[in-house]
Amino acid sequence: MSVTNATFLSPQEAALAVRYRALRARTRRLAAPLSPEDAQVQSMHDASPTKWHLAHTTWFFVRFVLDDPSAIPEGWARLLNSYYTGAGESHPRLLRGLLTRPTLEQVLAWRDDVDARVLRVLEEGRLDDARLVALRMGMQHEEQHQELLLTDIKHALWCNPLGPAYREDLPAPHSAPGRADPGVRWLHRDETVVEIGAPRWPDDGAEFAFDIESPRHRVLVPAHAIAQRPVTNAEFAEFIADGGYDTPTLWLADGWDLAQREGWRRPLYWHEDGVREFTLGGWRERDPHAPVCHLCQYEADAFARWAGARLPTEAEWEMAASACEVDGNFADDDAPLHTVAPRPAVDADAPADMFGNAWEWTCSPYVAYPGFRVLPGILGEYNGKFMSGQVVLRGGSCATPRGHVRASYRNFFPPSARWQFAGLRLAKDAG
Ligand SMILES: [Fe+2]
Repeated sequence: MSVTNATFLSPQEAALAVRYRALRARTRRLAAPLSPEDAQVQSMHDASPTKWHLAHTTWFFVRFVLDDPSAIPEGWARLLNSYYTGAGESHPRLLRGLLTRPTLEQVLAWRDDVDARVLRVLEEGRLDDARLVALRMGMQHEEQHQELLLTDIKHALWCNPLGPAYREDLPAPHSAPGRADPGVRWLHRDETVVEIGAPRWPDDGAEFAFDIESPRHRVLVPAHAIAQRPVTNAEFAEFIADGGYDTPTLWLADGWDLAQREGWRRPLYWHEDGVREFTLGGWRERDPHAPVCHLCQYEADAFARWAGARLPTEAEWEMAASACEVDGNFADDDAPLHTVAPRPAVDADAPADMFGNAWEWTCSPYVAYPGFRVLPGILGEYNGKFMSGQVVLRGGSCATPRGHVRASYRNFFPPSARWQFAGLRLAKDAG
């Protein structure tokens, strides 16, 4: 970077350049423990190879920020376009693991080249407002793929009978011996009208938010109670011991059929020995006090029914989370990358552990807020076109980069998805 040019940068653009460098370096650090063979594998349709994540996130900057065909080798664009029909054809998702070329070395070298180009146009002040919006979107997009990189490689490594660790040196997530589980405390809330959602970005608000979080709007929330903390591994083990996976009346029909077809007896990564679970650090003893994770929404819903409760709506969840600091067990460099027993609430009537640890399934379908508008252009395909057959999750997880989520953040997956770090918090109607 030339010092002369840098002096013409606005403080916002200078800060963006710093954040861009840190973001791209973090993705490289996440991939560093993996061999080229690890980075190649695709274990199922929902997951992508690490190499593809490294390349696809780079394609995003080339396509939407640089918009320069010379910045990508011939033929690669089709391989790396995930689902943007406005950006041309894309390679079938399930076949990403067959792409042995380009090699990992070529992809990493290309990342460096694209980074140099992006930083050059940014630091020379050559990005107009639309490209700056795309750059910010691309950075949020890469953070989402950082989480997917972890969840996808975890699934791939779990498929290997050797049970290899992503990182042997991850700190043990186990809580202190003898730590008391305080049991569920219910936080009662009267009927009220709340505002949820985020101001429309970049038009109405300074802070980044995805289009699906806006507009901010009012919702009538009936009287209800929400659990102070998420459901723990110990509580989910009680559900299993009580025949939860054998009791069809606890399950939605689609979930019951799927559970029978797939032979589900426990959460995705729990060992049949009843003691261990597969983590990014390999097979480890389960912490009974940590939030349960790797549930699909059907399992979360069945547990809630067994417990005489239900899943919260996203408005109930956001109302509770809005009072909390966005802090928790996120995917910092020295973090366990697994759920840990949450810190106690700051006071008796405050919710605990709303952010980080495990995404929390809600009972809310992923649909548009009233007045929703997709972003203009091809980037409008980012979120809005997936509003069918999916459910909202809230709060982030132990694989989410710190700073990525907020109270209004809406994640979404099909109710059958189990490979994300997703658990639940109970809610119930008043009375
Ligand atoms: Fe993507």
